[in-house]
Amino acid sequence: MAATVVDHPVVQDRLTRLRHVDTDRSRFRHALHEVARLVVYESLRDLPVTPITVPTPLTEAQGATVTEPPMLVPILRAGLGMLDAALELVPDARVGFVGLRRDEQTLRSEWYLDTVPADLDGAAALVLDPMLATGGSMIQTCRRLRDAGAGSIVAACILAAPEGVAAVEAAALDVAIHTAAVDPGLNEVGFIVPGLGDAGDRLFGTA
Ligand code: PRP
Repeated sequence: MAATVVDHPVVQDRLTRLRHVDTDRSRFRHALHEVARLVVYESLRDLPVTPITVPTPLTEAQGATVTEPPMLVPILRAGLGMLDAALELVPDARVGFVGLRRDEQTLRSEWYLDTVPADLDGAAALVLDPMLATGGSMIQTCRRLRDAGAGSIVAACILAAPEGVAAVEAAALDVAIHTAAVDPGLNEVGFIVPGLGDAGDRLFGTA
């Protein structure tokens, strides 16, 4: 399966809090922030660094610095819940917002916002979306990024369904998916099961 599962006890602990139906909005936001930070951390493992020499109190040390952070691309709304955590790790990153709303009947995602630059000129992109269900939103976003000339594209998710992972793979957009878990599948209305419900609604109180 073309998804890297960030399998770590702390990730599983926070993910369990997210799943719990009684986790209130404040705790949901906090747990999402925490698990996003860990998944994004792993998603950035292949980030290029520039070698530098720095003075220490004793002598000089060879070090490395991140000079080309990826463009962060949160898919609204739920992806906003991962943005601050990603910015903690790559504070200089540019941010391009994608607004996609999934029609609950057709499960097709429709655009309502797009602030990704028209020309990415080979820049890397990191897409943020807690939920990879059918994969429609992720595929549309990554197609947009490919059309803009993105370099590497990595997706950081919290929960994925096998159907979504397979769909992204079949779209042949060369996207590396990182997620905290891959659940058994989708139900008849396209929700990840057992899942955590609707991440956007739980984050913003619109259930
Ligand atoms: C949900 C979720 C993903 C998308 C996943 O967003 O946050 O963005 O659906 O589904 P897919 O893989 O089948 O495309 P939704 O459209 O409900 O918008 P929201 O984040 O504003 O709640």
